Amino acid sequence: MLILGIETSCDDTAVAVLEAARGELRVLSNIVSSQIKLHAPFGGVVPTLAAREHEKNLPLVLSEALHVSGFKIQAIDLLAVTSGPGLIMSLVKGVDFAKKLAEKYGKPLIGINHIEGHIASNWLPIGEMPHGDLPKTDERVFPSLCLVVSGGHTELILMRGHGEYELIGRTLDDAAGEAFDKIARILELGYPGGPQIAQQAAKLDSLSPKLKIELPRPMMHSKNFNFSFSGLKTAVLYLVEDLTGSKKTKRKLVKKSAMLTLESIRPVIAFEAQAAMVDVLVLKTIRAAEKLKVKSILLAGGVSANTRLRQRLREASTEMAIPLFVPPLAYTTDNAAMIACAAYFKTNKGIKLPRIDAGSRVKANANWEIAR
Ligand code: KG4
Ligand code: ZN
Repeated sequence: MLILGIETSCDDTAVAVLEAARGELRVLSNIVSSQIKLHAPFGGVVPTLAAREHEKNLPLVLSEALHVSGFKIQAIDLLAVTSGPGLIMSLVKGVDFAKKLAEKYGKPLIGINHIEGHIASNWLPIGEMPHGDLPKTDERVFPSLCLVVSGGHTELILMRGHGEYELIGRTLDDAAGEAFDKIARILELGYPGGPQIAQQAAKLDSLSPKLKIELPRPMMHSKNFNFSFSGLKTAVLYLVEDLTGSKKTKRKLVKKSAMLTLESIRPVIAFEAQAAMVDVLVLKTIRAAEKLKVKSILLAGGVSANTRLRQRLREASTEMAIPLFVPPLAYTTDNAAMIACAAYFKTNKGIKLPRIDAGSRVKANANWEIAR
């Protein structure tokens, strides 16, 4: 079976072709057209610009994805498009494009939840391993606790099987990726902020930090499995003001004798902010995994590219003897292979391919939640 995935939920226009044969998956093409350069001057995604770019890029990205896969659209068995959650104007562009394709070529079409796609990315092949590093038998994976960390979501989801999700905890304010992006903005680093913070933090190894700082670990010891990252962002903002003497808010600065340059304090603050976020994410995930007696932990979403998060979660899960699975790095941030992969599991569960005309019922839903 050949599945063509389409993803436009935020600022990446992506199309991929996934082949599923005898239960083994192969990504035949995975094209992502990033809009980072377009949005970078604004410090974040501008929805109207993103939608316009998707419209322009979709036909080009589709034709490249088909070309690389070696197949014509006529050979595709199923179309899958992200229909939520995300920016509504961006989602609509992808959904409309997919519907027109489905109609023109008489193909079945299904709408896929973006978060379900991120989770499914764990099953995408790495090199010769057709299911990533996941065991082939579901019995060794489920029930699993999934930590979804992206620009828009931070959730702990209990997964009893493909398509069976229960929400265990979530952020009460900013998502982890959003917090990285906002802290990067305070430090006057570029967008997206996650990789920039990680890069700055890595510099600390080669510097000898004279400056000792400590940032809060919000809700780390709360009894539930929820998160909160907006307080951390504010703590960074106040600290930067106090250390550099720059006034970004109306509050009174705490007097410091030595005024430091932003450049000199960036690595220390980036290191500590990253450490604070990772500490909270890891501790809560491990606690929830123990409480729920899961057989594995899965990591998903753009922030799962973070090396420190991967390392710390690996150490903690090894200590608790709970296997941890992480998506291949190439599939951590938004892509369409993960959308095709989620579609594969939907059809693989014994669900028949949708009727060809059913695609017209696919609707963009900016607030679609897979688990409540
Ligand atoms: O999943 P994703 O590509 O898009 C959404 O669905 O939101 O996630 C994007 C987020 C951004 O906030 C970005 O800063 C963050 O993932 N991110 C990272 C890293 N790479 C991307 N955060 C921390 N460390 C990274 N290496
Ligand atoms: Zn995403």
